[in-house]
Amino acid sequence: MDRSRRRSGLLIAIAAAASLGAAATAPLPLRAMRWLAPGADASRILTRRPVECLTIPRDRATAYSVELGRAAFRTPLLLGGQAARAGVACETCHRNGRTNPDFDFPGLSGAPGTADVTSFVFSSHRGDHVDDPRPIPDLGGPKSALRISQAPGSPALKRFIHGLVTEEFDGAEPPPAVLAGLAAYVRALSPAACSPRRLEPVRVESDIDDARRAVLAAQGALARGDAAAALLMVQAARSRLGDIAERYGDPALRPTRQSLVVADLDLAATLAVIRQSKPASAERLSMWLARSHRWAAVVERDEARSLYEPTVLATASVPRGR
Ligand code: HEC
Repeated sequence: MDRSRRRSGLLIAIAAAASLGAAATAPLPLRAMRWLAPGADASRILTRRPVECLTIPRDRATAYSVELGRAAFRTPLLLGGQAARAGVACETCHRNGRTNPDFDFPGLSGAPGTADVTSFVFSSHRGDHVDDPRPIPDLGGPKSALRISQAPGSPALKRFIHGLVTEEFDGAEPPPAVLAGLAAYVRALSPAACSPRRLEPVRVESDIDDARRAVLAAQGALARGDAAAALLMVQAARSRLGDIAERYGDPALRPTRQSLVVADLDLAATLAVIRQSKPASAERLSMWLARSHRWAAVVERDEARSLYEPTVLATASVPRGR
C-alpha cells in the first residue's frame, strides 16, 4: 500500500467529528470542548491544566532548540490538513507536555484519556487500520515508563515524532531545526522539574507569555538564517493569540478582542516580510515584542470577564435551549 496516499484513521475521525459538530450543534464557546466527553465540566477542565515539568537547558543552543520545540508543540499548524483545521496540536493530547485524562474524541478515543495515534508509527506493516486507542502518556513522567528511547544519541525519538507529524497527522515536512526542537523539548521534560502542585490555573498571562516566547524563538531562528523555522514560530505566536481571542468572544469584550486582532495582523504582515527575506524582519519582531505590553495590559485587565474565569465559562457552556 502506498503509505503516503493513505489517510490515517485519526485524520478521518477528526474530520468526521469536526463536521458533525458543526452540523448538529451551535458553535461551542471553546473549540477544546470538542474533545471532551459529553457532560464533562468544561468550566473545571479547561481552566486548569497539569503543571509543565520543563528544565530549560543552560547552554544557549539547546535552550533555543527547546523553545522552538515548545512553541511547535503548541501549534496546530505543525500538523497537517484536518488536524490543523480542527485546532489539534501535540498539546491537545499532551497538555502542557503531560497527559490529558479528559481527551475524548469520537472515533479516536476509547475511554477518555486514550487515543489511537499508532496506526502507522508502531504498526506500519498492518494492511488495515485497526482501532487501538491507548492511554495518552505523560511526557513529563519517568523516562523509564515511556516506550521510545530518549537516550542521548538515539535517533528513535526524532524518528517517532517525524512519523507522527508527517504520516499520522499528514503534516508537511517540518523544518529540521523544529523537528530537532520537538525532540529536545520532550527530552527536557522530566519529573525532576515537576512542582509538587499537580494542576495550575490556565491564565491569560501564561498564554501571552507563550506568544512572546514564540516570537523570541522566531528572532533566534532569523539570527541563524533559518527563515522556515522563523515562519513557523510566528505562526505559533499567532495561534496562541487566537487561543486568547477565543476566550474573549463576549460582545462586551469586543474592543479587547480587537486589540488582539491588531497584534495578530502585525504578525501576519511580518510573515510576508520574512517570506521576502527582507532585512526588516528582525526589527519588526523586536517592535512587536516592545509594543506587546500595551495590548497585554488590556487583555489582562479583562481576564475576569473572559472565558479564563471558571464561572464565566460555566455560564457560557450551558447548552442553549435547556
Ligand atoms: C490525538 C492525541 C495525540 C496527539 C495530538 C499527539 N499525541 Fe503523542 N501520544 C498519544 C498517545 C495515545 C500516545 C501513546 C501511543 C502508544 O503507546 O502506542 C502518544 C505517544 C507519544 C510519545 C511516545 C511516548 C513514549 O511512550 O515514549 C511521544 C514522544 C509523543 N507522543 C509526542 C507527541 C508529539 C511531539 C506530538 C505532536 C507532533 C504528539 N505527541 C501528538 C496521543 C497524542
